[in-house]
Amino acid sequence: MRETVHVPLGDRAYDVLIGPGLLAESGALISPFLPRPRVAVVTETQVAATHLDGLRLGLATQGIDMVALELPPGEATKGWPHLQEVVEWLLAQKIERNDVVVALGGGVIGDLVGFAAAILRRGVRFVQVPTSLLAQVDSSVGGKTAINSSHGKNLIGAFHQPCLVLADTDVLNTLTTRDFLAGYGEVMKYGLLGDADFFAWLEDNAPAMAAGDMALRVEAVRRSVQMKAEIVTRDETEQGERALLNLGHTFCHALEAATGYSDRLLHGEGVAIGCGLAFELSSRLGLCAQEDPSRVRAHLKAMGMKTDLSDIDGALPDAATLLDLMGQDKKVVAGTLNFVLARGIGEAFVTSDVPREAVLGVLGDALART
Ligand code: GLY
Repeated sequence: MRETVHVPLGDRAYDVLIGPGLLAESGALISPFLPRPRVAVVTETQVAATHLDGLRLGLATQGIDMVALELPPGEATKGWPHLQEVVEWLLAQKIERNDVVVALGGGVIGDLVGFAAAILRRGVRFVQVPTSLLAQVDSSVGGKTAINSSHGKNLIGAFHQPCLVLADTDVLNTLTTRDFLAGYGEVMKYGLLGDADFFAWLEDNAPAMAAGDMALRVEAVRRSVQMKAEIVTRDETEQGERALLNLGHTFCHALEAATGYSDRLLHGEGVAIGCGLAFELSSRLGLCAQEDPSRVRAHLKAMGMKTDLSDIDGALPDAATLLDLMGQDKKVVAGTLNFVLARGIGEAFVTSDVPREAVLGVLGDALART
């Protein structure tokens, strides 16, 4: 049940391995990249408690020695203080230019450690071992690395591709249902943005996948990673097409900002709600059929996911304030908001040609339902 997706980026090409049991085989899989049998692993305490020993044992099968740094869990870790801590620790561990750093964790760890690897000694190789569904299907693939600034999320970073990604689908069994479904928001996004057949497959299979079917999990992660790899290969540094991956994200960022990037709304939950709103906006602009936003919402509800703004605990600001929060998004180009809209399921496109009134209307009506 092992799948490989190749990301063909010339001298930065790499494989994403997907399937159960990869942690146990990590030694054999990582050793071809190592000039000496030693790696530095950066992780966070919750992931470490569940998976660090598994990684250590896997590496030990090939005699690979491991040093590990455990950071606090949570988005607040993704900032200057912990970047400094990671880089200074890697230097203290005498990690050299040809050594390999391993990021074991979700998106926060992957983004932070990837950025540390990008700047350490002007760039060392790193292996992503993503432990959340979101990280397996999105953030571990494609080389975006970053930390947050007081000015916004992911504003300080670099494109730095990993040399290998190990997406061990056994690890998904240790996620809470909420975290799994939040990650599923990004899986669904791939169908909605570019593959109507995949979305239809998810409508049929995602409930069983969420319930634990491993073959379906491997297939959902593979198809997601394959789509991401194809887009990243065509547009690595987001000059155009890669922005399609931001379907749902403009609404999501406003909602995340309005809820203080707190537990009230996980990123993938915001993406899922945001996809629904992006289809609603597309429908109102006459771009897609009225049935399309209903189909998106019906699928979210069938999955037991947050669908409406009323599913977010606590009060939200008014539509004008949410629109202003969208303006803080880093996807603002020369003051215009870039939106990902759709001509149908699987037919997303990027535009900056969105009337402010239409966005206000969608947000106002969505708030009125709360
Ligand atoms: N998560 C969006 C991207 O990698 O471009």
